Amino acid sequence: MSINILAIESSCDDTSAAVISDSFLLSNIISSQKIHEAYGGVVPELASRAHQQNIIPVVHEALKQAGIDKKELNAVAFTRGPGLMGSLLVGTSFAKGFSRALDIPLIDVNHLQAHILAHFIQTKGEGHTPPEFPFLCLLVSGGNSQIILVKSHKDMEVIGQTIDDAAGEAFDKCAKVMGLPYPGGPVIDRLAKEGNPKAFTFNKPHIPGYNYSFSGLKTSFLYLLRDHLKENPGFIEENKNDLCASLQYTVIEILMDKLRKAAKDLRIKEVAVAGGVSANSALRAAFEEHAKKYGWTIHIPKFAYTTDNAAMVAISGYFKYLDNDFCDISLPPFSRVEV
Ligand code: KG4
Repeated sequence: MSINILAIESSCDDTSAAVISDSFLLSNIISSQKIHEAYGGVVPELASRAHQQNIIPVVHEALKQAGIDKKELNAVAFTRGPGLMGSLLVGTSFAKGFSRALDIPLIDVNHLQAHILAHFIQTKGEGHTPPEFPFLCLLVSGGNSQIILVKSHKDMEVIGQTIDDAAGEAFDKCAKVMGLPYPGGPVIDRLAKEGNPKAFTFNKPHIPGYNYSFSGLKTSFLYLLRDHLKENPGFIEENKNDLCASLQYTVIEILMDKLRKAAKDLRIKEVAVAGGVSANSALRAAFEEHAKKYGWTIHIPKFAYTTDNAAMVAISGYFKYLDNDFCDISLPPFSRVEV
């Protein structure tokens, strides 16, 4: 008999529901909230209200597309954290109500672990080779930049992380000062394709170990704009593509330098990338290059699994189900939680 799990993700500004049958994904519905674009960033109160409006239609559609009746579900998995508390509360409360009404177990999922476990999602009719343990995962999103040593589905160790801003945050903040729309990462990626990555140089941080820092880069980008704008008010407009290409080049160099060091020190050649920034085309190209140059076996997620989605919560829930690792209905969400 198959194990059918409904999964809910509501940690930030995407309301998502997915259904998985064993490790095979049957549906993954994502409703991204557009309302935040006007504010240049996610507004927490608006996010929770939008989750409340979206959650029932999204779950309904996920079950419909999967062709699964709610009576056939074996468990409900939900993102418990980290994320925005108001947003998490919507998904958590919904999952709790659903599990209580159907009298099926509830499974809490760590959002960061879920991004990594997305590499184990299978789809019927598609061949897919998941990473072999132990592997390294570069987890890069709007809130995190971490190198994680993944020893098993449930045993993960953060060996390096940002001491200030995340890589996605650096993209978003630099885009904002150039007057680009939110989220800035995908816009920078697009404009960088037409620019020269060596047009401007920025200092790279000197941080010990495998840790990252992006706040210095953000400041040096800001100072470069400020100095040039004094001489030429049209500086940003005239150099937008080169600015984006140079910034993106530096962010990727910083990310890959530490990842390469970790892979070398730990003698690991199985390397994955996850999180919103893993959608970046130049980062994906850097992974391909490293695979050729250093003999890495690389794992790059499908675009649908780069940003927040419930499919990754579903596969994480499935592994916990196999371990009989269920949670109590009284468990609260957490805005901050480690891998
Ligand atoms: O994982 P995610 O969807 O959300 C959280 O951080 O929770 O990541 C969003 C981040 C944003 O900073 C966004 O600008 C960045 O991922 N991002 C990208 C690209 N697509 C999304 N950054 C660079 N290039 C992209 N193509």
